[in-house]
Amino acid sequence: PPPPLRDTFGRMHNYLRISLTERCNLRCCFYCMPEEGVELTPKPHLLTDDEVVRLAKMFVKQGVTKIRLTGGEPMVRAGVVDLIGRLSELRQHGLRSIGMTSNGIALHRTLPRLVENGLTHLNLSLDTLDPFKFEIMARRRGHGAVLKALDIALSSDLQSVKLNFVVIKDLNDAEVPDFVEMTREKDISIRFIEFMPFTGNRWDKARMVPSSVLLSNLQKRYPTIIKAADELNDTARSYRIPGYVGSFGFISSMSDHFCSSCNRLRLTADGQIKVCLFDPKETSLRDLLRSGETDDTVMQTVSIAVRGKKEKHAGMEEIDVATNRPMILIGDPQRSS
Ligand code: GTP
Ligand code: 5AD
Ligand code: SF4
Repeated sequence: PPPPLRDTFGRMHNYLRISLTERCNLRCCFYCMPEEGVELTPKPHLLTDDEVVRLAKMFVKQGVTKIRLTGGEPMVRAGVVDLIGRLSELRQHGLRSIGMTSNGIALHRTLPRLVENGLTHLNLSLDTLDPFKFEIMARRRGHGAVLKALDIALSSDLQSVKLNFVVIKDLNDAEVPDFVEMTREKDISIRFIEFMPFTGNRWDKARMVPSSVLLSNLQKRYPTIIKAADELNDTARSYRIPGYVGSFGFISSMSDHFCSSCNRLRLTADGQIKVCLFDPKETSLRDLLRSGETDDTVMQTVSIAVRGKKEKHAGMEEIDVATNRPMILIGDPQRSS
């Protein structure tokens, strides 16, 4: 039989994104969660630590080398330090990296312990350098805490620190050059992300700035911009300015999708496997675990889901926003209660 994590287009999935919670300590209503909030899944229906570790182990045994913890905001899950320690033991089965995507609000005190326990990669969300704008976008205070987390991350033993910046026209797009300037002295990679449509967010094509527009504006300002190397399955196309320490890149999910090199699968906090960010179809692995199924049976179900993965998402006019989950419940952003 074909490897369970290979799909019908030959894509091998070696990257598992695990959502640890649906809750968040921010309220980014513009792009992540509906204004009225989301209905949280009752706790007993969420995966326990043991279930997360058992599932992660099954995936690692089938070739997953990279795990990324997401949310909601992963740091609001109790016991996240220990959970990373347990996931780290999967290195003996082939796991190579454990990343986290966090909004950085509750990170700076705990980060050293996360790294000690095996966290290797950190992606921080930061959409503005202006504390007032931060409050408008995130509906909470905490800009200073995020900057503190960033500094601690940069002086830690993490293998990489990236910043995620969701570009929204007339809200924060004017700050793009300021973020590029951060790469002058910081060893960081900034990713300018195209605004994507999800249930309940305020997506509007007119507020999405295509990466090509950002790049050509930056090229006018910095004529020496050069292309930097990308890794095989990177979501971003990266660039750098000679003499600057860091790099910046563009995640063009909307204008120039990268589905053909997609290597990701997602596990939601309530234990559903989701093979594509934009595909509403989900399969519950939690129910299989709880009805006493063996690892083999669970993997067979995963395999069927993976083989149902479509070649690419439907395009921005056709994406099924109505039946897909809001971003906060998919496990990409990091922000709800
Ligand atoms: P790395 O593991 O560092 O490559 O991170 P990442 O870019 O995969 O993940 P991160 O959690 O930092 O997410 C940043 C952005 O990548 C998100 O806002 C999305 O725009 C985009 N992204 C992540 N996963 C997917 C995906 O499966 N499909 C698409 N289209 N976009 C994705
Ligand atoms: N479009 C693009 N990126 C988004 N994120 C959350 N919602 C959206 C959206 N609608 C980002 C978060 C986080 C990353 C995982 O996804 O800012 O950095
Ligand atoms: Fe809010 Fe968190 Fe979603 Fe951002 S990611 S909008 S902070 S819930």
